[in-house]
Amino acid sequence: MKSLEGKVAVVTGATSGIGARIAELFVAEGARVVLAGRREREGEERAAALGSSASFVRCDVSVEADVEALVGHAVERHGRLDVMVNNAGGPGNMASVTDFDAEVFARTLSVHVTGVMLGIKHAGRQMVAQGSGSIVNVASLAGKIAGWSGLDYSTAKAAVLHLTRCAAIDLGEHGVRVNSVSPGFVPTGIFAKGAGVEASAADASADSAVAVFETLMKDSQPIFRTISTDDIAAAALWFASDASRLVTGQDVGVDGGVSAGRPASVSRADRERIRGLLS
Ligand SMILES: NC(=O)c1ccc[n+]([C@@H]2O[C@H](COP(=O)([O-])OP(=O)(O)OC[C@H]3O[C@@H](n4cnc5c(N)ncnc54)[C@H](OP(=O)(O)O)[C@@H]3O)[C@@H](O)[C@H]2O)c1
Repeated sequence: MKSLEGKVAVVTGATSGIGARIAELFVAEGARVVLAGRREREGEERAAALGSSASFVRCDVSVEADVEALVGHAVERHGRLDVMVNNAGGPGNMASVTDFDAEVFARTLSVHVTGVMLGIKHAGRQMVAQGSGSIVNVASLAGKIAGWSGLDYSTAKAAVLHLTRCAAIDLGEHGVRVNSVSPGFVPTGIFAKGAGVEASAADASADSAVAVFETLMKDSQPIFRTISTDDIAAAALWFASDASRLVTGQDVGVDGGVSAGRPASVSRADRERIRGLLS
C-alpha cells in the first residue's frame, strides 16, 4: 500500500523547488494534494501535470485570509485534511545587524514565522476537529547555526524550530503531530532569487548553484554529496505518513551532517597543523 493512500495534504510553496517535489511525491504516494503559492501560472501548471489528485490555490502565507481560504479549499474539495506542509519561504538578506532595515526584517519574519503559525493554526483547527493530522514545517540548517544565511532568515528559521515544539505540545493531546525538516544547502531557485533574479528564471537556473555549493561545503559537510529536493521530500513523507505516528515536536536535519560537526579529515588536518606548530 502507498504510504499516503487516502490522505489529503496541503503543501505551501509548491510552485517550485522543495515544495513542488514534496507535492509530486505525495501524489505518487496516493495523497490528494492542494498546492499553494503566489504565482498562479506556475501553480496551475504544476497541479495540472500531477493529474486529478492535485489542485492549486493562490495563497500568500503571510496573509491570514489566504491561509484560511487555502485550508477551506482542501476541506471543501476533499472533506478532510491529514497533512499540512508549511514550506513556503523566500531568501534572507545579507546586511549586518547594525544596518538592518526593520521593515525588511519584519517582512522575512511574516512569511517564515507568521506564515508557518497561520498554517498550523488553520490546519490545526480542522485536524483537532478530526482528532488526527500531521503538520510538517520546513525549517533550515540556518535555524541551528548562525552564519549560513542572512540573520533575518536564520532568526526566522530558529523560531520555526521552536514553534514546531510549542505547537506539538499544544496539539498532541488532540492527536495532531507537528514536526520539522531542516534542509542543508539544496540547489533550488531560492539563491538566485536572493540575488535579485526574476523568480521563474531563478527556478530554471537552480542547477547552476551545484558547483557553488560543492566549493562552499567541501570543508563543512561530512557526507559530501549534493542534497536534492528528493532528499527533503523523503523526510517530509516520513513525517506525513503513519510510519512516524508517535513522533512529534522533532526536527530532522537533512544536511549531510553539517549540523553535527565538521568532516573528520578537516579537523584531523587542523590538529596536525597545531601539532606541527607546537613541536
Ligand atoms: N534550498 C535550500 O538550500 C533550503 C535550505 C533550507 C531551507 N529551505 C527552505 O525550503 C523552503 C522552500 O525553498 P526552496 O529552496 O524550494 O526555494 P524556492 O524554489 O524559491 O521555493 C520557495 C517557494 O515558496 C513560495 N513562497 C515564497 N514566499 C511566499 C509567500 N509569501 N506565500 C506563499 N508562498 C511563498 C514560492 O512560491 P511563489 O513565488 O509562487 O509564491 C515557492 O514556491 C523555504 O522555506 C526555504 O527557506 C531551503
